Amino acid sequence: MSLAMVRKIEIKGLIFDLDGVIADTAHLHYKAWCKIGDQLGFNLSKAQNEKLKGVSRKDSILKIANWAGKSFTEAELDSLALEKNENYLSYCQTLGTKDILPGVYDFINASVNKGLKLAVGSASKNAKLILQKLGIINLFSIVVDGNVVENSKPDPEVFLKSAEILELEPKNCIVFEDSQAGIQAAIKAGMFSVGVGLENLRSCDHKIENFEGLDPEQLLTQLSNIIYQ
Ligand code: BG6
Ligand code: MG
Repeated sequence: MSLAMVRKIEIKGLIFDLDGVIADTAHLHYKAWCKIGDQLGFNLSKAQNEKLKGVSRKDSILKIANWAGKSFTEAELDSLALEKNENYLSYCQTLGTKDILPGVYDFINASVNKGLKLAVGSASKNAKLILQKLGIINLFSIVVDGNVVENSKPDPEVFLKSAEILELEPKNCIVFEDSQAGIQAAIKAGMFSVGVGLENLRSCDHKIENFEGLDPEQLLTQLSNIIYQ
């Protein structure tokens, strides 16, 4: 116990990734990328797709081109990214409150009632549109998305900008993330990280399968005394 270090934190803000944390859209991104992969004669595996989660559209097409062993001009890359987005948006047409992931709505409402500041920190340029479709955009103080950051996760920019706008210190924020790139971004931002989902996320401070039955009060109590050995 002598080497144990107790970190006490006061959580004042929650920063949520969007795709795969709030919205059941990660599989739609995958489907849209697979369609582009097919055109390139390339089969995008689930393991490779994990490496695209949290990553910007532009960086994603660069990775896919690289895995497929193809080289493209900037204009061709832009055109492939545009096509992917058109496909993705067509899959998103029917999105609504039914596509909010389990427990998220109640957790977010309870967090707002508790006086916590809430932000969305997403790589997606479609984040506001998706949140509007889900009918929950008004629950967040701020949405920091792929339109306002220059550097994609694992760069911490999206989370640092969220905390700055919320007027909070990074150490007083929790990030909820379903991607390894996002967990790395949270760590680099100096924030507490909660991994969401069934994927094998490394290095997060805490892991939950989903938000079902999760009470923010309970979670914060659980996280406020963490012993590292
Ligand atoms: C992230 C997703 O949230 O946003 C990625 O995890 C996606 O899969 C990225 O590529 C960019 O999204 P968009 O909507 O701008 O293409
Ligand atoms: Mg995500």
